Amino acid sequence: MTFVDPDDVSSNPSGNRPFQDVLAARVSRRAVMVGGTALAAAGFLGAAPASASPGADSRPKLGFKAVPAGSADEVVVPEGYTASVLIPWGTPLHSGGPAWRKDGSNSAADQAQQIGFNHDGMAFFPRHQLLALNHEYTDAVMIYPDGDAVMSKDKVDKALAGHGVSIVRVSNEDGQWRLVDSRFNRRITGSTPVTFSGPVGPDHPELAANTPAMGTLNNCSSEATPWGTYITCEENWNSYFGTTDAAWTPTAEQARYGVTKSGGGYKWHLGDPDRFDMSTNPKELNRFGWAVEIDPDRPNSNPVKRTALGRFKHEGVTFTEVNGRIVAYSGDDQAGDYIYKFVGSTSWRWLRALGRSPLDHGTLYVAKFNDDGTGRWLPLVFGQGALTAANGWKDQADVLLRTRQAADAVGATPMDRPEWIAVDPRSKEVYVTLTNGNGGGAANPRKPNPYGHIVKWSETGHTSFEWDIFILAGDPKYDPTVELDESNIFGSPDGLAFDGDGRLWICTEISNSSQLRPDRGYDRIGNNQLLAADPSTGEIRRFLVGPRGAEITGPAFTPDGRTLFVNVQHPGELTSFFPEPPTPANPRAVSNWPDFDPAGRPRPATLVIRKNDGGVIGT
Ligand code: FEO
Ligand code: CA
Repeated sequence: MTFVDPDDVSSNPSGNRPFQDVLAARVSRRAVMVGGTALAAAGFLGAAPASASPGADSRPKLGFKAVPAGSADEVVVPEGYTASVLIPWGTPLHSGGPAWRKDGSNSAADQAQQIGFNHDGMAFFPRHQLLALNHEYTDAVMIYPDGDAVMSKDKVDKALAGHGVSIVRVSNEDGQWRLVDSRFNRRITGSTPVTFSGPVGPDHPELAANTPAMGTLNNCSSEATPWGTYITCEENWNSYFGTTDAAWTPTAEQARYGVTKSGGGYKWHLGDPDRFDMSTNPKELNRFGWAVEIDPDRPNSNPVKRTALGRFKHEGVTFTEVNGRIVAYSGDDQAGDYIYKFVGSTSWRWLRALGRSPLDHGTLYVAKFNDDGTGRWLPLVFGQGALTAANGWKDQADVLLRTRQAADAVGATPMDRPEWIAVDPRSKEVYVTLTNGNGGGAANPRKPNPYGHIVKWSETGHTSFEWDIFILAGDPKYDPTVELDESNIFGSPDGLAFDGDGRLWICTEISNSSQLRPDRGYDRIGNNQLLAADPSTGEIRRFLVGPRGAEITGPAFTPDGRTLFVNVQHPGELTSFFPEPPTPANPRAVSNWPDFDPAGRPRPATLVIRKNDGGVIGT
């Protein structure tokens, strides 16, 4: 494994003006306004004053004592709180199901009846007390007894069964949550039958691969729709494909999506070439990169890929409403890629009443950030602007299959790895995490910029917005423009969610190539963490620190705000700070969380966070 995060490498050759340049211009403008020093600029760039958040109330939102940064192999929460482990990888979905084996020897069939690997985005559905959660990817060192030096169809099948989504019913008895048997409990995996809806329908010739349409892969963020379904998003899907055909070369569209001959190291094209070798089965690629709707209340229903929302490395989808229409925001997580917005054609309730999906009828836009703090949503509509037949575009399906190239053509603003998006339930301001950047824009105030930002905007019209910087992440020891201290230094913001009281929860995903390393400016920030922010004051406090090698992701609250579910993804993954890598012989080299079994291995898991007095989380 290399220590280059492929998300950090841009595959955008458009020449559109990168966000670093726009940000730098905006920083410069503000620096001049407030006296011309970088620190003055940083002061302006810190969290917004209360007046900037219309609708905010004035009560203090953060009532807990910040936890210190740390590098121990444990979960740390504030005084007065308890974290317990729920549904670790391999937990059987039903009593009597196949038990998890600590030596990695469960079969593919076992894995398909167990909680998947690498828990990520998650939503809680109160009606039937269902948790739906994504399983972003698998790690061959952890899921097989002998790693992947030799690949086989059985191994690919097990990895496919470890991917996808779990839906389980959970029950709270006196504050103790546990999985319970239910007809709703099920897995959606990389092999589950799927269909397509919207302009790229199930019979579209570009989806006519040799193998049946099945599976969702690299499911990163997710959210519940207003009508009670679950939307899960396909992020680094390009990584699963490769070829042994020496003559294969990518098309321009494939190159734009980062598709390469060797793939991302999964070797599935070696174990299952009929499906994953791009030379053998090229159209299988086109079935991925979509937002996928799953109905947790209908356990026999199959996932539907909603193609009107575009095809890219969807980090997630975040919903809000404008005049009854659904609005869905989505980031494309790669260095130099874009932020998108889908707006429904009419009231989503009306469309539902007509038996139509609100996600099949509407317009997709991509964001352009102007230097002066304004922005425009540029439509990605066949026949409009640059997306004409004369320019080689065939129809709307073509625009959606090649969303990145369409966005290049209309002049979208390249961003520093757009991750999660969250909408303030009161002010309707929209926040996006930009996890880290290439740095290096000529006037970029942070060059290099390994720490990331959070940007926010307010919609000012159907296709216009005004944007600002909410916070620059980092450690002031290494970057004096950072306005954080030991109670809240963090880097690489990723997961983002508002709770019912308007607290903004920020998860971090510092890459394992940087975590804890002083040469990367990450030694004092420690393991990945969860923080809470008060958007109206800009106050931020560290709430939770995770175990070694893990990221923290997927925060989801019960409606009463008294239980927080949050995921620990990839504990014990190869982390360059630790000299010994995890291996099939010793998968415990970095972490052995949460079981600490001397013959076991680390397991991704959900945490249940409760306040010991039963109070609202964060107060
Ligand atoms: Fe799945 Fe961009 O993290
Ligand atoms: Ca992420």
